[in-house]
Amino acid sequence: MTTRTNAPLYMPGFGNHFSTEAVAGALPEGRNSPQRHPLGLYAEQLSGTAFTAPRSENRRSWLYRLRPSAQHPAYKPFDQGRVRSGPFTEAPPNPNRMRWDPLPTPSGPTDWVEGLVTYAGNGDPEAATGVGVHLYAANRSMTDRVFYCADGELLIVPQLGQQAFVTEMGRIDARPGEIVVIPRGVRFRVECDGEIRGYACENYGALFRLPDLGPIGSNGLANPRDFQTPVAWFEDVGRPTECVQKYGGRLWATTFAHSPLDVVGWHGDLAPYKYDTTRFNTIGTVSYDHPDPSIFTVLTSPSGAPGTANCDFAIFPPRWMVAEETFRPPWFHRNVMSEFMGLVYGEYDAKEGGFSPGGASLHNCMSGHGPDQASYDKAVRADLKPVKIENTLAFMFETRAPFRTTEWAQTSPTMQLDYDDVWSGFEKGRVG
Ligand SMILES: [Fe+2]
Repeated sequence: MTTRTNAPLYMPGFGNHFSTEAVAGALPEGRNSPQRHPLGLYAEQLSGTAFTAPRSENRRSWLYRLRPSAQHPAYKPFDQGRVRSGPFTEAPPNPNRMRWDPLPTPSGPTDWVEGLVTYAGNGDPEAATGVGVHLYAANRSMTDRVFYCADGELLIVPQLGQQAFVTEMGRIDARPGEIVVIPRGVRFRVECDGEIRGYACENYGALFRLPDLGPIGSNGLANPRDFQTPVAWFEDVGRPTECVQKYGGRLWATTFAHSPLDVVGWHGDLAPYKYDTTRFNTIGTVSYDHPDPSIFTVLTSPSGAPGTANCDFAIFPPRWMVAEETFRPPWFHRNVMSEFMGLVYGEYDAKEGGFSPGGASLHNCMSGHGPDQASYDKAVRADLKPVKIENTLAFMFETRAPFRTTEWAQTSPTMQLDYDDVWSGFEKGRVG
């Protein structure tokens, strides 16, 4: 992927206060901002929450770098491509159920920034509420270019190909089945050996955290020890490096005279991390009925309303189905929350076809949805012995506000115009 001699190293835990240095002495002792750093590094605080946020919410890190982040010329507007942002006004609100085929392979050399396509979103980064949902398809590494998002943190779900996220605070390798979260403001480049694809949820709201577990107890779902934060890593590169940022919905760029991935050491609790979804402790019924899908929540961004997420990230991983006298797939429902789904690999148990790895679906507030006819017919006839659903990983970004699609998503040839038909053939129930 690059001229690497060693694989990235990680520190375990979620939201820990980490301390890490790539060169001994990079972290000053006893204070954050000494008069003179012993190695001549520049101290910089990166704040992910307001200075005065309560301690339980407060996230910030201290970075010690070769040059100050402030050392750059003015940002200028950058080609917006297919990146869109809240407030989403390109298309009117649309209650219809939607589904898309996977993003096509790029026709020419395309890096991660050039390959970003916004499908939908809600809220507004300036109001610190809502999300943007992007997909990406790329085939070459970002070269002498980094990116950061000033509008929100990025929850990235790789879907195809090995991907490396080389960030200011360390290097993360990720493959399909793992997820990566990069805080607002943290600069990174994406490297790959060939074609890559994936999904990205840009969270304008409160930072993602582990959900409360209630009666489940003190263990289960995503366990904190399985989250991995990279150790400090830096490059001392004097080549001009383009820095693209998303700010206020627009893309902007400037050129640093050097690589800004020059943080030699850092400490704090605001940092990128990854999680391997195969570590998820999946909980389900051992008696009857399919529990609410909230049982699959990996991370949640709360809103001000109790139990009502700005965004939940839920996964549908391999699991045993053992429910007795039960319709086992996800049931028909209408939901006040809005659901954007993707499929990393395999097949989702409520759809027999049409929802392909790399594809997407959208079921907005109060839109009726559920199993398609073929899945329904199979489930009502199934012999209810224990069955393991294997080799599959679907996921959902679920939000409290309805999604608005972008014009691109609404008019893309990948949109399946016949999606409603998957529910068209059900026979009437028998009464009397
Ligand atoms: Fe649903």
